[in-house]
Amino acid sequence: MEPESELSTAGPAGALSFLVGVWRGEGHGVYPTIDAFDYDEEIVFSATGKPFLAYAQRSWAKDGRPLHVETGYWRPGDQGAVEVTIAQPTGFAEVAEGTVVDRVVDVSSKMMGRTSTAKEVSLLRRVIEVKGDVLEYRIDMAAVGQPMQNHLRATLRRA
Ligand code: HEM
Repeated sequence: MEPESELSTAGPAGALSFLVGVWRGEGHGVYPTIDAFDYDEEIVFSATGKPFLAYAQRSWAKDGRPLHVETGYWRPGDQGAVEVTIAQPTGFAEVAEGTVVDRVVDVSSKMMGRTSTAKEVSLLRRVIEVKGDVLEYRIDMAAVGQPMQNHLRATLRRA
């Protein structure tokens, strides 16, 4: 039997397989409590041969300083459902659910597990849209006493 290609677009991750690949690009971050910033980013969605994708994200400030990183799993369910688990080194264990429709993934946190020194984040929403070789996403959050609003938006291209 042929081994399954690591970047196969078919396979058991079905409804999310359009995400598989290495994506690189730039983003812009805002929040009322911080200075706006620009960043470079790499996102890797890997097929695993199991019915979920492995996910790894890294980002850097424009002067090369490492910024946020996170890793997790994206799991398609029945009828366009999506389940996500992501660990962030800033003390968050995110459990999110949502949908995938026409290459738009839209998930919101069901639970933000937080270590005792993590910032207060009560809700996180991630929307990812893929058109051809371009991946755009936005992340909104309700955090540090602020209402739900944008923290990040970025545009990446298939590397
Ligand atoms: C590309 C990914 C991300 C980048 C580049 C990024 C960058 C930043 C930067 C530069 C700051 C301000 C300085 C600091 O506190 O470190 C910040 C603050 C913050 N970010 Fe992000 N972030 C990212 C993703 C996330 C995610 C996924 C969350 C969800 C939990 C998050 C939650 C926060 C919070 C809660 C703050 C603190 C706001 C405050 O204390 O006023 N960030 N982020």
